[in-house]
Amino acid sequence: MDIETLKQQAGEEAVALAVRPSMIIGLGTGSTAVHATRKIGQLWQAGELPGIVGIPTSEATAVAAARFGIPLGALDAYPVIDVVIDGADEIDPHFNLIKGLGGALLREKIVATAAKRMVVVADARKQVNLLGTRAPVPVEVVRFAARPCYDYLTTLAARVEKRTEPDGQPYLTDENNYIFDCYFDGITGPVALAQAIRQQPGVVEHGLFLGLATDVVLATTRGIEILHRT
Ligand code: A5P
Repeated sequence: MDIETLKQQAGEEAVALAVRPSMIIGLGTGSTAVHATRKIGQLWQAGELPGIVGIPTSEATAVAAARFGIPLGALDAYPVIDVVIDGADEIDPHFNLIKGLGGALLREKIVATAAKRMVVVADARKQVNLLGTRAPVPVEVVRFAARPCYDYLTTLAARVEKRTEPDGQPYLTDENNYIFDCYFDGITGPVALAQAIRQQPGVVEHGLFLGLATDVVLATTRGIEILHRT
């Protein structure tokens, strides 16, 4: 089965697992989460999810959700979210995540923190024994503090790269910040690392999502596996 089909299965299974009428739903960002968003839109249009409100985790997701017809809201009006369905770049055995290769880590973390339940949708390639072995940790920084943040992050990571667009221009997040991708040879202490990254003024957020995910819907070649945090 091809990878897109696996991602679609994960997204749709997550909706079946966790989305019900009248819920406030965080809509994740990325090529897997979009399948959940599309399914929510289809069910809403079929009249099967009356009363739902979607809270998008990025401008890109807001555009997609509007195209699928989902009624959208903002955290100002809906500060408590029933469930968010979002992708991940790495998932460790404790349900700790690295997120943000799609650049939306700040809004994703705000929404995940406001959510009672976070369902992660991914294909099995995202499962790791140790965080930081497959993906870098993206760190969002304000542009004014780019140089001191870069210098500081190089004291923590094996390698730090400023994220760029294909034309070489700096990548800008939805909040107009830069991202530094921090590479590690495995992260043995993610809590300590998260605290250390936060100590630098100018750091807005990092892509370590610790203790937030409650469920993982994993698409494997053997079928869908649903895992719950114990
Ligand atoms: C977006 O900023 C990310 O956190 C995504 O959720 C993550 O990169 C997973 O994306 P894919 O499902 O496209 O791999």
